[in-house]
Amino acid sequence: MVLPKAELHLHIEGTLEPELAFELARRNGVELPWAGTEGLREAYRFRDLQSFLDLYYELMAVLRTERDFEDLADAYLARAAAQGVRHAEIFFDPQAHLARGVGMGTVVEGLWRALGRSPETHGVSTRLIMCFLRDESAESAMATLEAAEPYLDRITGVGLDSAEAGHPPAKFREVYEAAAGLGLRRVAHAGEEGPPAYIAEALDVLGVERIDHGLRCVEDPALVRRLVRDRVPLTLCPLSNVRLRAVDTLADHPLPAMLDAGLMCTVNSDDPAYFGGYAGDNFDAVQRVLGLSRERLRELARNSFLASFLEDDEELRAR
Ligand code: ADE
Ligand code: ZN
Repeated sequence: MVLPKAELHLHIEGTLEPELAFELARRNGVELPWAGTEGLREAYRFRDLQSFLDLYYELMAVLRTERDFEDLADAYLARAAAQGVRHAEIFFDPQAHLARGVGMGTVVEGLWRALGRSPETHGVSTRLIMCFLRDESAESAMATLEAAEPYLDRITGVGLDSAEAGHPPAKFREVYEAAAGLGLRRVAHAGEEGPPAYIAEALDVLGVERIDHGLRCVEDPALVRRLVRDRVPLTLCPLSNVRLRAVDTLADHPLPAMLDAGLMCTVNSDDPAYFGGYAGDNFDAVQRVLGLSRERLRELARNSFLASFLEDDEELRAR
């Protein structure tokens, strides 16, 4: 039986499969520099986070219309549903689209066309989380929050992503305060490539409720004790960590030790079109390679619902 689960760390732009990218390129008259889908796949050999981000932002050029964002989200939701995802909290990167002249309304309304009907079409409930690009300025993040105000009925929370090292959470203190004032939930990537201190800073300065990745907490035993004590959810992405070289191989991933330490871990896919697997593929891989027991897998699935932004009654229905 496929385990029912919630996906809490998923960049919708990272679900753009090569086949859909080329279809959208044709539809929109965008010329791509790769020789077909296989040529594009060959470019998916990443040295680190930045080498991935360069390609990730470049390929977004094919996303132009509401229908493109609708098709992207629909394709993801169909794949996720087939792997047991019952609820998905979906990141999007508005600054990467606004910079190309694609408006906030095009992105949010396009995604919403698929998300709004997803409980009926795919059996998947959803939330939208708008991420700020941490390698852009704090002023740009604030302007992005202002641009999103007409769409806040569709947006549950804010997140922080893109190149981590050298861009500490505290840079975004004001925009997170403003987001909290608007009733938005708060999460942030921390401890993927950046140091463990960024994890503590995201909690202390930004007031986040979950840490996206959080992998490098294992370098700081006092931080681990704090995360265990406060039951701070970590949205880990094992296949992403392998592809972006945060770990040498999946067999080296600290997930089993993190669970043994009592951390509230979840398993997610991050950018599945680029990293070789959707949520269920990540579950299968950690079971196979790390030898996680059925009970541990059930714990991961249970954590995913507990750490979600679902209301209690919705959560029970989704499980
Ligand atoms: N944007 C998309 N995927 C990301 C990741 N793994 N880390 C930071 N920013 C991202
Ligand atoms: Zn991510």
